[in-house]
Amino acid sequence: MRDQIVIKSGYDQFPAWERAFADAGIQAIRWEDRDDHLDAIRYALVWKPAPGDLAALPSLEIVFSIGAGVDHLVGDDLVPAGLPVVRNVDPGLTAGMVEHVLYHVIRFHRRMADYEADQRAGRWKPRLQTPASSHTAGIMGLGELGGACARALAGIGFRVAGWSRRPRVAEGVDCFHGRDGLAEFLSRSETLVCLLPLTAETCGVICRETLALLPAGACFINVGRGPLVVDGDLLAALDSGHLRGAALDVFHREPLPPDHPYWRHPRVTITPHVASITQPATSAPHIIANIRRHQAGEQLTHLADLALGY
Ligand code: GLV
Repeated sequence: MRDQIVIKSGYDQFPAWERAFADAGIQAIRWEDRDDHLDAIRYALVWKPAPGDLAALPSLEIVFSIGAGVDHLVGDDLVPAGLPVVRNVDPGLTAGMVEHVLYHVIRFHRRMADYEADQRAGRWKPRLQTPASSHTAGIMGLGELGGACARALAGIGFRVAGWSRRPRVAEGVDCFHGRDGLAEFLSRSETLVCLLPLTAETCGVICRETLALLPAGACFINVGRGPLVVDGDLLAALDSGHLRGAALDVFHREPLPPDHPYWRHPRVTITPHVASITQPATSAPHIIANIRRHQAGEQLTHLADLALGY
């Protein structure tokens, strides 16, 4: 019998997953068809399973997260005790995130939101253009995605600062860490990019106190998770003009409710949680390699620690 992996995705990418796994002799099973394969499904590749979903797969041996974050797997009855959870490692997802972050940092740096407003008003108003080397992008979270964004920004000439929970070293990046390094990091971040995992510790980290530490006229990009931000505090910082703009891809509630003030705020740009999407062709090799390790009795790589939340 071929190895079987059941897939529950937020996108209709099943044919691409099927092709990517078939090349390795692994059969992909649609989530809707799982009841016909209960004894054979040893692996699950999932996004936002419901409580009890995974416990209903009696032969399950490994849970793979489709998303880069694993917060969707933290909670009662989501992952049966003892099952290993593997984080997603996807060069395609990383490349997509780098594109999104570069786009928004450059958009803010080049004042495109102002020019778009000028165009709507029929207003010809040139502004002094400053070089990228005079603008500091601050990346909060220097993991797989944050590290790649930091390197890419440094590569096109931005000054880059990075902040992480534990000390990290990244070439071309001024690295700060821990509570002690936060104020110094924020005070130089003219565009702050939040790519932290959502954990008990990071929930609400973007709040009145931290926003106040950003330089006047700073911009904010959230591509981590919505609950990292205290919405009321971000709106107040935008309303007061302390922040010049925010590009938000993730929200407390998704879809963002129609009456949420972000929708109509002139300084806010919204995308519907699409900053980057897992690409089956580039994601599957890592999953397959881990399945092979497991079958050979070797240690899995990129294990998540659900107690820590990443
Ligand atoms: C999406 O948000 C992801 O975790 O990949």
